[in-house]
Amino acid sequence: MILIFLGAPGAGKGTQSELLQESLGLLHISSGDLLRDHRRRGTELGEVANEYMKKGELVPDDLIINMIVDRLAAPDAARGVLLDGFPRTLPQAAALDDALDLKHQRVNAALYINVHDEVLIDRLSGRLTCSGCGHVYHEKFNPPKVEGICDHDGSPLYQREDDKRETAVKRLTVYFEQTRPIIAYYQERGLLCEVDGEQPIEKVTEDLMTCLR
Ligand code: AP5
Repeated sequence: MILIFLGAPGAGKGTQSELLQESLGLLHISSGDLLRDHRRRGTELGEVANEYMKKGELVPDDLIINMIVDRLAAPDAARGVLLDGFPRTLPQAAALDDALDLKHQRVNAALYINVHDEVLIDRLSGRLTCSGCGHVYHEKFNPPKVEGICDHDGSPLYQREDDKRETAVKRLTVYFEQTRPIIAYYQERGLLCEVDGEQPIEKVTEDLMTCLR
């Protein structure tokens, strides 16, 4: 099974991916996490990507497409994947279809988590991420049991550089200009299922599971 998560920055794609990958047994591939890992390891891709990420802009299509196509070719992706943050442009969506065609595979569903713009800024500016396992919290909507500490592995929580207000606003503008058009791409192919992302986290998960029945 190949699933795609669509939605603006802060819509809850990462939160829901973590929950769904467990119940569906799929591999979660987050383009943002892969890029942040390259950045941490100081690879050439990580250094180039950082120039775009810190400004809230999209990393060029050719770099992202190669990174994802490589990841999809790894043996652990054979059990099925949940793509989070990719595709984000029409050329990326077309490149994914081409890559899957070669393996006689296709996208099974595009799950669109819809959240209003004003809610997104609150979500991004209050998000806290675990420095160890990457689990995501929110200072108001989804706080850890102990302030500043991850419930899962006890590591300190931090604010992502690109969640600072100015960069978060830029990311939303980029989303509306470059990413939102791909919603129509999947709608035209009969693959889109939209859920209301402003409900409690568990209810969003329930609606996403309904999309897959
Ligand atoms: P990436 O890491 O993919 O960031 P994003 O898409 O901007 O998504 P986010 O991680 O910000 O949000 P999310 O939807 O996962 O929300 P979350 O679950 O954390 O990309 C970062 C950068 O990398 C890009 O700007 C770009 O430069 C580059 N990049 C990545 N992919 C690329 C590509 N394909 N092409 C080009 N460049 C690329 O939730 C957000 C907050 O809300 C959390 O605090 C959470 O606790 C809370 N929350 C979640 N659900 C709920 C709920 N139901 N109610 C209340 N609070 C909730």
